[in-house]
Amino acid sequence: MSEGSADSPQPTTPPQPPPGHYALGHPVIGPRPLARTRSFTRRGGRMPRTHQAAWDRLSREVVLTVPRAHGDTSTVVETSYRLDVGEVFGRRAPLVVEVGPGSGDALVAGAVARPDWDFLAFEVWRPGIGHALAKMEAATGGPALPNVRVIEADASLALQTILEPGSAHEVWTFFPDPWPKTKHHKRRIVSDDFATTVRDVLTEDGVWRLATDWDDYAEAMREVLDAREDLRLVSTERAPLRPVTRFERRGTEAGRAITDLAYVRV
Ligand SMILES: C[S@@+](CC[C@H](N)C(=O)[O-])C[C@H]1O[C@@H](n2cnc3c(N)ncnc32)[C@H](O)[C@@H]1O
Repeated sequence: MSEGSADSPQPTTPPQPPPGHYALGHPVIGPRPLARTRSFTRRGGRMPRTHQAAWDRLSREVVLTVPRAHGDTSTVVETSYRLDVGEVFGRRAPLVVEVGPGSGDALVAGAVARPDWDFLAFEVWRPGIGHALAKMEAATGGPALPNVRVIEADASLALQTILEPGSAHEVWTFFPDPWPKTKHHKRRIVSDDFATTVRDVLTEDGVWRLATDWDDYAEAMREVLDAREDLRLVSTERAPLRPVTRFERRGTEAGRAITDLAYVRV
């Protein structure tokens, strides 16, 4: 058959990615055209010298190197990458996943209180991770806690792909950025889509613990999560391992009430 004859295969248009996700520089995950995650804005900034020093000493051990979809500084973990939790921690123990540990109060306190559990945190704010590593050194007298790992990445995307479904005993989302202005509410990380992601990551009877000092965010969380048949509210008591953090103190000083919520996967 000669080139260009009527029988030649017609040139085909390569499949086009759905709008939204790719357009904004993110890989597509599932059929939903996710908008770019906007739950965070700050990523960098200078670390105080002591936090930088802790980062220099411990990050190689604690902060995992993961393949990234859009270059070394991207917060998007390559979607084909799966974390081998057993290999990372060298054992199989109940796993706590923390979303946005900030400067690591709950992460470090939890890991010290439960050496028999493993803690995997996702944080996009590097100075916060440096601060968490400094707190870790203060707690241990120097070495890394063997049951803690941190991934510097966007949790709402990474959790859709990086873990085996049903692998987390607990997920913690303490004092997520409140985005108090009405026009910014859509940036709040706790949404119905994120609840689906968390549900999939939890073990059958796994628990999602949340806390906030913003009443309208607490109400929005209840509205979204109470409506789901796959999550059941089991407690509004303070989460057992949650220490008082800067965000709780600040909220209380401003006269705001703290809401704790715990949902079990059903
Ligand atoms: C208000 S701070 C709370 C920190 C900590 N949980 C506490 O209670 O002290 C919220 C943290 O979530 C992080 N964050 C926001 N969106 C995130 C995302 N999509 N993935 C990972 N971390 C995120 C922010 O960088 C910030 O450090």
